[in-house]
Amino acid sequence: MVDWAPFPKEGDKVLFVFGGGILDGELLKQIRFLDNELSAYEFHPVKELDGLLIERLARRVKAAAGARELGETVYLEHGQTAPAEWQRPRTSVDGRGQGGTFAEAGPESPGRRLDWKSMATDLRSRHDVSMDKATAYHDALGDHFAAHAETSPYNAYTDRPAMLRLAGDVSGVRILDVGCGAGHHAAELAARGARVIGIEGSATLLRHAYARVNGQAGLLLHDLEEPLGFAGDASFDGVVCALVYEHIRNRVQLLGEIRRVLRPGGWLLVSTTHPTADWRHFGGSYFSHDWRDLPIGDSELSIHYQRLSLETFLGELLAAGFVLEQLIEPRPTADLREIDEAAYDRLHQVPSFLAVKLRRP
Ligand SMILES: C[S@@+](CC[C@H](N)C(=O)[O-])C[C@H]1O[C@@H](n2cnc3c(N)ncnc32)[C@H](O)[C@@H]1O
Repeated sequence: MVDWAPFPKEGDKVLFVFGGGILDGELLKQIRFLDNELSAYEFHPVKELDGLLIERLARRVKAAAGARELGETVYLEHGQTAPAEWQRPRTSVDGRGQGGTFAEAGPESPGRRLDWKSMATDLRSRHDVSMDKATAYHDALGDHFAAHAETSPYNAYTDRPAMLRLAGDVSGVRILDVGCGAGHHAAELAARGARVIGIEGSATLLRHAYARVNGQAGLLLHDLEEPLGFAGDASFDGVVCALVYEHIRNRVQLLGEIRRVLRPGGWLLVSTTHPTADWRHFGGSYFSHDWRDLPIGDSELSIHYQRLSLETFLGELLAAGFVLEQLIEPRPTADLREIDEAAYDRLHQVPSFLAVKLRRP
């Protein structure tokens, strides 16, 4: 259910009621309340709602329950049923159209239910339409990466600890994790007291992230080629973008959006494949900006990304209005030596990643 509520004093609002599916005993036990905004939950039959909620809220929840029965999304205005033409969502490319933040994209998608499968299909079909190769790690690639990120010398012992160090003390800090993958950074930042939202374009990886963050961070399926329409201006204190930047085509738009959702004085951490590592691997010109497929180990899987020289990587971030505060070439932490001495030595000699901390002035 989507309700448009014009409100001249504070600005118009759009309210959503989502179907949460059926919660079994195990899921109920996992419900946690963040930020003390909610302190308890109860279940009530729909027919009792009038006695429990204020009138407008009861109308919204009843409309949502009716929409669930029909298997459709319903659109309201001021808590009342909206004009008939609203009941068929329009295509929303930027995520801000009448289809709502989680736009049910696709011109031929009248009133579909919001569910993971259709949202994921929507994101992927946009790539198919644009003929661009998908860069998000779908399906087997997502499962492979989730396992790899857990223990790999590159992710678990090199890039991730470096990014967490750059983040510093995050207690009470509102952080957006852009391309959160299997939720490793989000879970760790939340454990350190941050209020984290992770966004990710692969439904496969988002499922891994859900299991990992265990309700301690918000997660959203989002294509980073689209504006961050779900977030208001200056709504985050920090943004983490770990090993995602080189996958994105419309980086100017993404950086503009990150700048918008960061408060002035907020920080942005970006890590990427070290340009010299790509040069060693792919050869050719160091200054090549080719899109490449990098095979993953012996598997048939590969990741798709763009080679960026240092000048381009840093130049884009500075041109977007960020100020560089720190640049590091992360090396593995000491505990890797106990587990894999050869990898420890190799990654102390050959650069694999580059990470920067920037500030929004
Ligand atoms: C190397 S992984 C890094 C994941 C995580 N940040 C980490 O460091 O563990 C790159 C991530 O970018 C995501 N990604 C790539 N292109 C994307 C896009 N267009 N929209 C959203 N996510 C995307 C992939 O699905 C994958 O999770």
